[in-house]
Amino acid sequence: MSEPKFYDLNPDDRLAAIAHQTGLSIEEMQILSGEAGLSLEQADHMIENVVGLYTLPVGIARNFVINDREVPVPMMIEEPSVVAGASFMAKLAQTGGGFHAEADEPVMIGQIQVIDLPDVQAARNALEANKFLLLQAVEGLDPMLEKNGGGPRGIEIRVIEESPIGKFIVVHVLYDVRDAMGANAVNTAVEKLAPLVEDICGGRVLLRILSNLADKRLARAHVTIPLEKLAFESYTPEMVRDGIIAAWAFAASDPYRAATHNKGIMNGVDAVVIATGNDWRAIEAGAHAYAARSGRYTSLSKWGVDVNGNLVGDLEMPMAVGIIGGATRVHPTAKVNLKLMGVKTAAELAEIIVSVGLAQNLAALRALATEGIQRGHMGLHARQIAVAAGARPDQVEELAQKMVAEKNIRIDRAMELLKEMK
Ligand code: MEV
Repeated sequence: MSEPKFYDLNPDDRLAAIAHQTGLSIEEMQILSGEAGLSLEQADHMIENVVGLYTLPVGIARNFVINDREVPVPMMIEEPSVVAGASFMAKLAQTGGGFHAEADEPVMIGQIQVIDLPDVQAARNALEANKFLLLQAVEGLDPMLEKNGGGPRGIEIRVIEESPIGKFIVVHVLYDVRDAMGANAVNTAVEKLAPLVEDICGGRVLLRILSNLADKRLARAHVTIPLEKLAFESYTPEMVRDGIIAAWAFAASDPYRAATHNKGIMNGVDAVVIATGNDWRAIEAGAHAYAARSGRYTSLSKWGVDVNGNLVGDLEMPMAVGIIGGATRVHPTAKVNLKLMGVKTAAELAEIIVSVGLAQNLAALRALATEGIQRGHMGLHARQIAVAAGARPDQVEELAQKMVAEKNIRIDRAMELLKEMK
């Protein structure tokens, strides 16, 4: 008898299978199942005015092979079809060798805004001439970080030529934050540097803050899907491949479509970012600013054909995620999720996240360019309606299937069918 598929198991058995695969302890399993997890007391130390907790489903995306390593990927999301879509595309990707991903050095940018400058050019020259001094001033600021190979990497001086307050200067502090997201280290560095900047150029420092357009800390994923693997039902492989490329071309050239296309990518990205306790607003901000870097908002991914006619996809985006500090180390579920993926560095986590983003994008484009997304959504939607209509757990699947067969997924119909079933 063949082993039941992961998605056919119940949540307890899925958890047992994942725990077995990744070596989770009983305590960690209780955390992941929701039995334990974040306590009210811990939450009360995380933010202000705490009154309770809000929970989300954790699903495990399967079949991901990233840089030749199989990784179970925890995703926290409320939207149906996302985990299934990622898992399905990861399976397809396996036939072409899985995902290949890489991440830049974890260099973040801190910004110092300098205003009230009577002579902007002279101030710029003074700052340029003293870059070394500025860099030296932040060296040794974070001994732990520097011991692990991080620390200040460079100073850049920019002049904002036109703004509602006229010309001003921005000093960029480039800072290698290693396995942290980096906001704390960078904000400390720019605040420390501010008085020296004023001394050097004579202006007044106003803002001192990290930039979420982390374009020195990009992560990239690449995937090849063998042409013949793209066929399904009545769709030929060429129809699917060319449909996906035409769908991408739409996003590449139209911001209205690009916003939705990138939202699909972020369905995958955010779900892993949230599962690991990272700052998803920072990732969202960086993603969309990067998508607009040419002056026109466009697709974050690219799809095309290789010399053998296979479908190839690439995703590149800023990925400022950490595995130390902040909620990643406080939230029990985030800690278990990091263990589950076996990541040892923030770069490895970034590589997983972009791969999931690319898989999610492929799932959406493949569906949109062929049968449309509603069909795939129907089964899951039907299950939600069945639950809402009052079906018991053992009735949900049967009721959902009845509604899908009738192509009538409505709560009133679900209630009628439920009465018949009883
Ligand atoms: C829905 O959450 C995401 C999609 O709209 C993405 C896309 O259109 O590419 C399906």
